[in-house]
Amino acid sequence: MDKQVLQNSLDSLVTEYVANNPRSREMSERAKESLPGGNTRTGAYMRPFPIYIERGEGVYFYDLDGHRLLDFVNNNTALILGHAHPAIVEALQDRVAKGTAFSRPTALEVEMAELLRERVPSLERIRFCSSGTEAVLNALRVAKGFTGKRKIARFEGAYHGVGEYALVSYVPPLGPELGPADRPRSVPSTAGLSPAVLEEVVVLPFNDADACAEIINENADDLAAVIVDPLHTGAGTCLPVDGFLPRLRELTTQVGALLVFDEIISFRASPGGAQGLYGVRPDLTCMAKVIAGGTAGAAFGGRADVMELYDPTSGAKIPQSGTYNANPIATVAGLVTLQTMTPDAYEKIGALTQRLGAGLESVFAEVGVEAQVTAIGSLFRVHFLPRRPQNYREAAQDDKLLQDYLFFWLLNRGIHWTSGGNVSLPMTEAHIDRLVSEVQNAFQQF
Ligand SMILES: Cc1ncc(COP(=O)(O)O)c(C=O)c1O
Repeated sequence: MDKQVLQNSLDSLVTEYVANNPRSREMSERAKESLPGGNTRTGAYMRPFPIYIERGEGVYFYDLDGHRLLDFVNNNTALILGHAHPAIVEALQDRVAKGTAFSRPTALEVEMAELLRERVPSLERIRFCSSGTEAVLNALRVAKGFTGKRKIARFEGAYHGVGEYALVSYVPPLGPELGPADRPRSVPSTAGLSPAVLEEVVVLPFNDADACAEIINENADDLAAVIVDPLHTGAGTCLPVDGFLPRLRELTTQVGALLVFDEIISFRASPGGAQGLYGVRPDLTCMAKVIAGGTAGAAFGGRADVMELYDPTSGAKIPQSGTYNANPIATVAGLVTLQTMTPDAYEKIGALTQRLGAGLESVFAEVGVEAQVTAIGSLFRVHFLPRRPQNYREAAQDDKLLQDYLFFWLLNRGIHWTSGGNVSLPMTEAHIDRLVSEVQNAFQQF
């Protein structure tokens, strides 16, 4: 496909977007007076300005300019039941009238912890917090406290929120400063990171078990934990190759480091999360998004002997207060979500996602566009690459021009996605087929 022709088509789509969204444009200008660059969530920004959303209902949201968009992003996977699901709305309305937060526990947190333990056997003990960032921060802290070691290993490219360790080698620009593929260097991904953090973070290459073994063994004496998003979602949803996660399990056990699964997105993949799908039992797990049903809530947990460091009855070696830990709003929304996500519900969205994956694959083959489609659980991702990426460096070579073109093509036609997305429970085959046919239209004109 001719790059210049594609760039011209993208320019026309952006012009059309600007013309069709005057109210969002105005709001983004107004926002710049109060928020840096008009923004308060880096990932919510887009050029030339973001669409401002008014409300959501089921599979759609409505923007300030009155467009209805079929949403395959669902607040970055958090809304597995779609927008304003009636069961969530009812439970929240009921809860709000009874009080939204207290300084002593409610029975809801016990019920929620029991439900999570039932679904995820590795969660022997759980604590709640308010965001995925906090869940990761606490899991890494307890890993250091429990092992008495000071280093954390993480995978190049992965996203684990905005804590100190998480912002090392998070989607770093490709270049020689990253070091060899099998021995990535720790690079800062934010201003204001202290050099000690860079020194304490060891960076691993995803899906290269032998390289991981070398690096982990070299750092054995200092390594407190290896944190991994088992589906490598932030780096492009590069699925683990056969045996990779079990090997990480073995390696961490051998060196006395804890294996931490960041299941903040991947928990969506099955009733028991990615650990259920792949049959690997981590020492600790971080969760957020789906488990708070579209509100601000999160959790971390795992081995009882490790989580004991938080136990106030034996001295609480780690204090973890939080005004909104296990607040009733997040907890009730999470409970309703998990209760609605029965095995049949998972089967339904899994089948829709497979239909979507197969549909997109056949469209790309038909229109002659080189693309890789990954579909797992209710998550899907498209890469414009000649072969399926196995790690961040491969995924990062995706064709940005093609992605931008497809993004604006779909947005201007009432579909919201970002290089893929996720399926929500209220979706039907008709919604899936609409996306597939719009992708086909996007490329048929070339
Ligand atoms: C894998 C992963 N870890 C951690 C986080 C951070 O979660 P939060 O945004 O709730 O702080 C995210 C958020 O997108 C995530 O996708």
